[in-house]
Amino acid sequence: MANNENMRKVTCEFPPHAEHNGNDNWEAVNTAWKALKGKSCAGAEMTDWLHWPEKYLNSAEYNMLKKTIEEIYRKYEAIVFVGIGGSYLTGKMFTDIKGGELYNSLYGGPKCYFLGYDMDASNLEDVLSELENCKDWAIVYISKSGGTFEPAAAFNILYSNLLKDFSGNKGEANKRVYAITDAEKGILKNMANENGWTSFVIPDGIGGRFSGLTPVGLMPFGLVNGVGEMEELLLGAQEATYDCYSDAKAFAFQYAEWRLRHNHAVEYLATNSARLTYLVEWMKQLFGETEGKEGKGIFPTSGVFPRDLHSLGQFLQEGLRGLIFETQIISPFAETNEGDYVLEQIPGLKDGLDKFYGRTLAEAGEAAMHGAYVAHTKGGNPCGIIRFDAHDSRALGYFMQSMFISAAICAIVLGVNPFDQPGVELHKQVMKETLANLGNE
Ligand code: PA5
Repeated sequence: MANNENMRKVTCEFPPHAEHNGNDNWEAVNTAWKALKGKSCAGAEMTDWLHWPEKYLNSAEYNMLKKTIEEIYRKYEAIVFVGIGGSYLTGKMFTDIKGGELYNSLYGGPKCYFLGYDMDASNLEDVLSELENCKDWAIVYISKSGGTFEPAAAFNILYSNLLKDFSGNKGEANKRVYAITDAEKGILKNMANENGWTSFVIPDGIGGRFSGLTPVGLMPFGLVNGVGEMEELLLGAQEATYDCYSDAKAFAFQYAEWRLRHNHAVEYLATNSARLTYLVEWMKQLFGETEGKEGKGIFPTSGVFPRDLHSLGQFLQEGLRGLIFETQIISPFAETNEGDYVLEQIPGLKDGLDKFYGRTLAEAGEAAMHGAYVAHTKGGNPCGIIRFDAHDSRALGYFMQSMFISAAICAIVLGVNPFDQPGVELHKQVMKETLANLGNE
């Protein structure tokens, strides 16, 4: 059994299937794992993420990445991460877990901004006006293909602002651009070579949404959490892979089996904190792009409890049945530096909370998740729970790698190639054509 330290740090409770005890998918899950580890699945050339953590921990580039992160941390007041999809969501997830929307005002070190994922000029303007107040700032441009339009457009505008800051001195501007992209090909790689930008590699055998433990995610993770924690993150990920080799009921398999057993079209990922918003955004991209093709897949959607119990809770309780199953993702955020807040009686104030004085916010949050679990289960929506401390780098690494494995397994069982995204490619192409031909008709 995989009852090691990390496995204990990520626990799950998936109640047995009401009708067939959940046994019918185990064979398919184990067969899919064999195809994944044996590289006999579709897209097998894109499975290098499975053994990436141990490989990268022992590489020369890993040491260079750590040095560069420390240098960036010391030198700049702000970093703008430019990217979209798998080249955006992991970094955003890390800052979100650490400090939510207030990350930049809560922590020392460079402020982190993200651009290149939308076309909203006001968003860009807001970031540019923040940068005006910074003594020195840099761009980390992330794109595996190097040719995605949205980040390329954001980079174009940012780089021209960087050049303005140095009165057109390209040499100075170029010291402040870092590229994370393919080792050899693509527009970004070419620009990095021509302009001398410091570059890190997204390996050939690792696609965008599986790249969160390469420099794509490690660069923002190290900036936000310190480079020492990077090893913890990678070791946690490595353990997740090892557990799959040694335990037929490893967490990654249990989660895959849980997702597949219902034959429901929608998975509702419910978190207990707004700071997990981008963790589930990251999961949505991972599972949505990995499975959703050829008319198949489980549609991942999400919400924060208790916030969304007061909006979508009604649908989860009594809406269309046979459509949604719920997976609660619970992290113990109450263990803050300050301890937890306690509800106290305020003299002279009749606030209706008499029965709850002495209770903590953590206890209230737990009660809300439990209330939803019991109610939604009774209402007929299957409900499962995953618990881990997202602030614990090892547990987070273990969770992330387990998600990669689960997503790949689910796609293999569903009979689709986990590692391509033809639908994404098509819209990229049509968008570029539409924009290029504007006014030509
Ligand atoms: O998972 C994927 O491959 C995609 O979501 C990509 O991450 C996304 O389209 C961005 O691509 P790129 O990194 O090539 O700019």
